[in-house]
Amino acid sequence: MKAAAIIPAAGSGKRMGSSIQKPYIILQGMPLLAHTLRVFAEAPDIAELIVAVSPGQEDFCRKQVVKGCAIAKPVTVLTGGDRRQDSVRNGLAAVSDSVDLVMIHDGARPFVTVQMICDALEITMRKRATTMAVPVKDTVTMVAKDTGLIQQALDRDSLYLIQTPQTFERELICEAHRRARAEGFAGTDDASLVQRLGVPVSVIMGSYDNIKITTQEDLLFAEAILQRRLAK
Ligand code: CTP
Ligand code: MG
Repeated sequence: MKAAAIIPAAGSGKRMGSSIQKPYIILQGMPLLAHTLRVFAEAPDIAELIVAVSPGQEDFCRKQVVKGCAIAKPVTVLTGGDRRQDSVRNGLAAVSDSVDLVMIHDGARPFVTVQMICDALEITMRKRATTMAVPVKDTVTMVAKDTGLIQQALDRDSLYLIQTPQTFERELICEAHRRARAEGFAGTDDASLVQRLGVPVSVIMGSYDNIKITTQEDLLFAEAILQRRLAK
């Protein structure tokens, strides 16, 4: 089995509101994106890495992030697109034909582990399409946008927060992206593109550490997680 990882890191980091672009924010002396890439560099079953970055950031990423990670496998840094889905699509076009499984993982989730990557690949060999997810801790409800009134209580036991890695057979995820594009479907993740083809996506238990760095307070959580890991 041969696997490739696509790391979308071409977002604008609007919700972070930082002057430094989100992938290059320094955490414990290293750019956020480098923390993520290091895990994939270590994962034995990932044969190639494809990183999508904002237009104009390609060389900066190669020199300031990828080089410092000393990754002993092929790394392609390419230009992302307007939406995450476009960045992933650009990444898919660069995956080698010999690859069986494609793992897609947000550049902004640095706390993925080698074990999670191994587990996800192993399960996807049997299940074709998987996503990491964790059960919600809070009550989740639908609120009407216009009135601000609660619409519908949702059954907490069946609600999960979707994370990455999401892993798929290569042909399946390529077809899902082709169809989404042809039919004008926009999803916030890749699993939703596969699911709309009628192919079931299996949930793998993720980790509450596997946060997506999205807003300023996430940087505090990230520092705390890093401190705890360093102390081990
Ligand atoms: N992403 C991407 N291309 C885009 C948009 C997002 O590659 N056009 C990536 C981000 O860089 C990030 C991941 O998708 O690693 C998840 O996106 P998110 O956390 O929403 O990051 P941003 O889009 O950068 O943040 P925001 O939505 O606040 O602008
Ligand atoms: Mg975004």
